[in-house]
Amino acid sequence: MSREPPLNLADYEALAPAHMHPAVWDFISAGADDGVTMTQNRRAFERIALRPRVLADVGRIDTRAIVLGAAISSPILIAPTGPHAALCPEGEVATAEAAGKSGLGMVANSGSNRTIEDIAAVATGPLWLQLYLFPERERTHALVRRAEAAGCGALVLTADSPRFGRKEQSLRTENEFDWPEAGNLAGLPPATKRPIRGAPATWEDLDWLRDVTRLPIVLKGVLTAEDAAMAVDRQVAGIVVSNHGGRQLDGAIASIEALPEIVAEVGGRAEIYLDGGIRRGTDVLKALALGARAVMIGRPVLWGLAVGAGAGALDVLEMLKRELELAMALAGRPRLADIDASLVRTAPIQG
Ligand SMILES: Cc1cc2nc3c(=O)[nH]c(=O)nc-3n(C[C@H](O)[C@H](O)[C@H](O)COP(=O)(O)O)c2cc1C
Repeated sequence: MSREPPLNLADYEALAPAHMHPAVWDFISAGADDGVTMTQNRRAFERIALRPRVLADVGRIDTRAIVLGAAISSPILIAPTGPHAALCPEGEVATAEAAGKSGLGMVANSGSNRTIEDIAAVATGPLWLQLYLFPERERTHALVRRAEAAGCGALVLTADSPRFGRKEQSLRTENEFDWPEAGNLAGLPPATKRPIRGAPATWEDLDWLRDVTRLPIVLKGVLTAEDAAMAVDRQVAGIVVSNHGGRQLDGAIASIEALPEIVAEVGGRAEIYLDGGIRRGTDVLKALALGARAVMIGRPVLWGLAVGAGAGALDVLEMLKRELELAMALAGRPRLADIDASLVRTAPIQG
């Protein structure tokens, strides 16, 4: 079956491996252990049925959204992933340009190949910086100050990675590729070059971070109402309901299945975003119906970057936006405010 030109995100996924080193493909496509959570992230969307309304006036569909006070053209953000320079030479700069052209926001990861200053220089929409902590707070604080100076709109503390899940598919090949350097960390002594092996974050670290920055804090990787309650008690501005694309604890609940209890617990005290397995506009619609303010997408942006550099990433974003727009029309929900829980029926969990 021909996949060209790509018509959807799955076509990009099928085309992507031919455009990158096999070790890079193994790394980005991997889930932890048996990939159960990664698979369930997708299956769980299939278990949710839509209840479309008919004869609504859908002559004009409005997908514009606001995240942490910033306007975006559609409720879609680019999740923090890396390493973009292994996929196209401009790395995260190409990604940020694509996000800007699409009117969407981007979360850069702390280990990005390009520096946060380089990325911010081209970003025209909301740009947030994801953080893993360094063992020394002063180093983390230095990166926080750089994010503030560069004009980032929020800090996204990843909470689900006290250690890294075993991505077995990648373990065998990871040494076969010369991985590009992490730009934000260039010049640091080799022992601390990878914050990625840095300090496990705790609630105390979250308190510390809140006290040293004026930026809003988003906590990423929450899967339970209990943790969501602790996060809002600590005045986070946002929560990303996420299992890291199934790359951390295998067997963890599909993110879309964790969303309702978190939305109920938070009760509007923080913005809630969701990532994990978003591949269709209808997935975005389902996440919004269950209470997410916006979704984030991880791997599909990487597939786009690999296949067509910045233009490929842009195409991926535009496809998802168009699909959401069409889905809203067909569901009889012309504005985001029309999308509520009455749009979905969640089937009992099975297979
Ligand atoms: C190659 C790759 C690298 C990632 N790196 C990070 C990271 O540095 N920090 C982080 O918080 N999440 C990271 N993630 C997780 C993503 O932010 C996001 O949660 C996940 O990819 C969403 O699932 P999806 O890929 O199914 O869209 C990474 C994901 C992938 C695939």
